[in-house]
Amino acid sequence: MESHIHETPPEGAAADWTIPQDWSAYTAQDHATWDRLFARQSAQLQGRGCAAFLHGLDVLRLSRPGIPDFEELSARLMALTGWQVVAVPGLVPDAVFFDHLANRRFVAGNFIRRPDQLDYLQEPDVFHDVFGHVPLLADPVYADYMQAYGQGGLRSLAFGALHKLARLYWYTVEFGLIEEDGGLRLFGAGIVSSHGESEFALDDPSPNRIAFDLMRVMRTNYRIDDYQQSYFVIPSFESLLRATVETDFAPVYAALETLDDIAPDAVLPQDRLLTRGTQLRARGEVRQ
Ligand code: PHE
Ligand code: FE
Repeated sequence: MESHIHETPPEGAAADWTIPQDWSAYTAQDHATWDRLFARQSAQLQGRGCAAFLHGLDVLRLSRPGIPDFEELSARLMALTGWQVVAVPGLVPDAVFFDHLANRRFVAGNFIRRPDQLDYLQEPDVFHDVFGHVPLLADPVYADYMQAYGQGGLRSLAFGALHKLARLYWYTVEFGLIEEDGGLRLFGAGIVSSHGESEFALDDPSPNRIAFDLMRVMRTNYRIDDYQQSYFVIPSFESLLRATVETDFAPVYAALETLDDIAPDAVLPQDRLLTRGTQLRARGEVRQ
């Protein structure tokens, strides 16, 4: 989730905060960093990434060497689902972010991490944004979900409920798991772009894995400083779309006002639990 630091675009940015990607300014080292990250993650995600994600990597030709050129990538994406990828300098105000999504524009940072930051980086760079988020935008159902999320985001501002809606984004778009072929697969961008978390989220005994429930997710706090303590599992993108697009969130926000927040590691009696986590990592008993 992007956040607000300035309310007016920085120098050189357009009124909608976009900037030219300036593809020709990337150095050979920048492209080599993308290639290393791409090779490592595409191998890691065989059998772990959901089918729509792996298909998106393929149809968008993301395996070609070097950082993708947003114009070329947008042309492919536009033909498939009507989405585009536009560059921004970094974090943008919430309303700007939502407005882009609502208009089927995904905003991506244009910078890439340094070679000593392959494993972890606080701000979303072009690898997280493009490798992590863009492949699923080639899926028509997911593409509709992201647009609806943008519209819902704008609406949430009027209810003062962005912090609740942001949890939905966090536990789906960034850290979601999906049931597929009788097992669990990854779809969240924060997971698929992280070498460590893409193994942890599926294979480690530490986190809870809980069936997705809209209200439950919107009550649950999340961690920004470590791997998640709970992951939520959707049965399909169709069901996620139905649970969100076909629900008026006004009464949901009102109901949430009366309910307590839930801790990131909590398990409730009414949860449909797929895995009860040991939470050993969070207790510092396992280092990885
Ligand atoms: N249906 C939601 C609302 O009424 C909007 C929304 C759609 C939010 C999809 C998130 C995802 O506000
Ligand atoms: Fe992200």
